[in-house]
Amino acid sequence: MSEPSDPARYQALLDRLEANEREFRRLGRAVVKVQEDERRRLARELHDGVGQNLTVLKHRLALLGTALGSTQAPLRAQVESAIALCTQTLEDTRHLSRLLRPPILDDLGLEAALRWLARSQSEAGGPQVALEIGPLPSMDDARQTLLFRAAQESLNNALKHARAQSILLRLVAHDEWAHMQILDDGIGCDPALALTSGGSGLGGLRERLRLGGGSFRLVSSPGAGTCVQVRVPLSGD
Ligand SMILES: Nc1ncnc2c1ncn2[C@@H]1O[C@H](COP(=O)(O)OP(=O)(O)OP(=O)(O)O)[C@@H](O)[C@H]1O
Ligand SMILES: [Mg+2]
Repeated sequence: MSEPSDPARYQALLDRLEANEREFRRLGRAVVKVQEDERRRLARELHDGVGQNLTVLKHRLALLGTALGSTQAPLRAQVESAIALCTQTLEDTRHLSRLLRPPILDDLGLEAALRWLARSQSEAGGPQVALEIGPLPSMDDARQTLLFRAAQESLNNALKHARAQSILLRLVAHDEWAHMQILDDGIGCDPALALTSGGSGLGGLRERLRLGGGSFRLVSSPGAGTCVQVRVPLSGD
C-alpha cells in the first residue's frame, strides 16, 4: 500500500489503526472474561445441582438396599449396581466441574491451584509433576487465570502426547513479568507442525496470551522433550 502523501492524513490513519487494535484487544479480553465467568457458573451448577442430586439419589438407593435385606438377593444386587453407577457418575461430575473452573483458584489463588493441578495429573496416572514456584506478587484474577489455563493446557499436552518420565513446572516473577515454563522429557514434536496440527489447545493459548499482553513459545524437537515458555506482564492493562 502506498503512503498517503499528506503526513497529517497518514498520521490519522495510523491513529485509527492503533485505536482499532486497542478495541480489538479489549473485545478479545471481554470474550475471555465471559467465557471464564460462564465456566465458573457451569462448574458451580454441576457441583451444587447435579452433584447434590446424585448424592441424594445414592443415599436413597442405599436405604432401599438395606430395606430389601438379604431375602431379595437379585433385587438387592440391582440396587447395588445402581449405587455403583451413581458413585462413578458423581465422581465424573466432580471431575468435570473442577476441570471447568477449580474453586481452589478463586478461593486460594494461583499457587495452590497449580499444586492441586500437578497433584491431580499425577494421581490420574501421569508422571510426577515437580513444581518450582518462586515468591509471586499478588496478581489480579485475569492474570492468575491466564497462567493457570496455560499450565493446564501444557500439562494436559505433556500427559496426552509426550510419553514423558518427568515434568517440571517452573514459575517465577522477574522484571515485571511472570515467567512460566513447563518442561517434559518426552518424545517432543515439531513446533511448526504442532501449531498447525488442527488441535485448538496451543493455538488458543497463544491467542489468549497475546490478548493478555503476554507471549508464548514452544521449544521442542522430535526426541528431545518439550518446553512451553509463557510470559505474562505483572502490571498494565
Ligand atoms: N508436550 C508435548 N509433547 C509432544 N507433542 C506435543 C506436546 N504438546 C503438544 N504436542 C503436539 O502438538 C499438537 C498440538 O497440540 P494442541 O494442544 O494444540 O492440540 P491437541 O492437544 O492435539 O488437541 P486439543 O488441545 O485441542 O485437545 C499435539 O497434537 C501434539 O502432536
Ligand atoms: Mg492440547
